Amino acid sequence: MEHNAQQAQKDKIMEHNVQPSKASTSRRSFLRRGLAVGGAGAIGAGLFSAGSLYTNFAHAQAAASPAVTKGDVAILRFLAAIEILETDLWQQYNELGGIQDSEVPGGSGSTAYTAALQVLDGDMSQYIHDNTEDEISHFTFLNAYLVSKGADPVNLERFRTLPMLKGQFPAIPRHDADLHPKDHLQAIANTAGFHFGFIEQGGTSLYPSLAQGVTHPEVLRILLSIGPTETAHFQTWHDKAGNAPALTDPTNGLVFPDLNASPFGGEDFQTNLIMPEPTVFLSRKFPPVSIIRPTEPGGSGGAVATVKAWTADGLFIGQSQDFLAFLRKLAEQADETRRG
Ligand SMILES: [Fe+2]
Ligand SMILES: [Fe+2]
Repeated sequence: MEHNAQQAQKDKIMEHNVQPSKASTSRRSFLRRGLAVGGAGAIGAGLFSAGSLYTNFAHAQAAASPAVTKGDVAILRFLAAIEILETDLWQQYNELGGIQDSEVPGGSGSTAYTAALQVLDGDMSQYIHDNTEDEISHFTFLNAYLVSKGADPVNLERFRTLPMLKGQFPAIPRHDADLHPKDHLQAIANTAGFHFGFIEQGGTSLYPSLAQGVTHPEVLRILLSIGPTETAHFQTWHDKAGNAPALTDPTNGLVFPDLNASPFGGEDFQTNLIMPEPTVFLSRKFPPVSIIRPTEPGGSGGAVATVKAWTADGLFIGQSQDFLAFLRKLAEQADETRRG
């Protein structure tokens, strides 16, 4: 019901936004008009130069159409595996904390857990649902692309053996007893709130790192197009984690401190500091620049590092050695890749 009400509200806002504004002198409508005019001019110019560029590019392609390399396939296969794992993780969250619908089927929803998540943001269940949908589309697309190039898609079904995400501090209620007391359930939701950012940080680092080892322009286009969705995910969760209320879980002593108060706070902890910060990039001879990640060139071990971080996070507790070996192999092959 609440969702329907929210949706109705959103629809209303959308309607409002698409109606021509009478107050054309307000900053808002000026901005839109300004952009439309500037955009039209830019598109005109763009079409002209893009048209001529495209012709040249087409000639170049015809002259030496590069094939998708073995290295490109290794990168795509590792990413497909990571996306399958991301999907599995998000589906677990969505089953209890996301919106239940046919777009992301399989859950039952937990009113108490959903309410605890919504302490972090009223839209949490929508975001969880949409993040899950994104991950499903990522692995499905990557596997379909691999098949289209005659390469093997990635299938992890034989490793789907664990009953549920488990760890020292749960991020999902494991049974009804986890729904009480209130601060225990909120600690579970808070843990999820931080975990979301952790997971998406992985993808945010991985795509730009691996992109630098890609050879084929189309594979590069894929990585440059999917990668920023991971960054969009990370940025969203980064913001929401900052809203996790300070508390101590009475059942296990897990502490969520007030990140805005001493000894925390300041540039490293203040919870509304969510934008990228200028940092050293390429060389100290250049001024600091605001970037997502000071990535290393391809082959610097980003894939293996991601697997290590996820393993250390306890995500694979209970998994077989076969599974870990399979994943490590995919990561090593992706990391070995050099552009060329
Ligand atoms: Fe993804
Ligand atoms: Fe993601």
